[in-house]
Amino acid sequence: MKKIAILGSGSGSNMQAIADAIAAGSLEAEIIYVGCDIEGAYIFERAEKFGLPCELIDCHGFKQKFPQEAQAALAQKLKNMGVDLICLAGFMRLVGQPLLDHFPNRILNIHPSLLPAYPGLHAWEQAITDGATESGCTVHYVDAGMDTGEIIAQAKVPVVIGDTAKSLHTRIQEEERKLYPLVVGQVLGS
Ligand code: GRF
Repeated sequence: MKKIAILGSGSGSNMQAIADAIAAGSLEAEIIYVGCDIEGAYIFERAEKFGLPCELIDCHGFKQKFPQEAQAALAQKLKNMGVDLICLAGFMRLVGQPLLDHFPNRILNIHPSLLPAYPGLHAWEQAITDGATESGCTVHYVDAGMDTGEIIAQAKVPVVIGDTAKSLHTRIQEEERKLYPLVVGQVLGS
């Protein structure tokens, strides 16, 4: 059974989608680690419901940076646990060399835009401001850049008249929760 680690910073709806797919038997894998860098984030509660203890990732007091030592410690831990694939699910820190070196082409991310359009924060707001007529989400391999790694799959949604940033984000997230488990299965070859 392939082993997945999930890293998040927020509500954990993508973590839940992956856990739901496993529970439903549509994804053959096992989540063996959930980590979050933000104390009290909702992902802790969601993980708990699946009997998955969520670990607080110690980022040494840094607000945005993912310190090299913290990455190295996490990489070593996940390696020792036998993790096959790391899924970033709303994780808000840039992953760098310590993790990338240990898990080459084995770290995925989901981003709420049709990359390469709108990398970075609040992609759905940028789509609305730009007057885009469609948006969506992208699952990609993680490299050292911000949302720049090789694209694996995308799902499109329309931007409709009267959309707000919030309504568009909700529509995108519905697609994220379908796409991510599918792509995880594809990458794991299950
Ligand atoms: C998702 O919209 C994802 O695309 C972005 O962060 C959000 C995380 O949501 N990277 P959740 O924590 O999985 O609910």
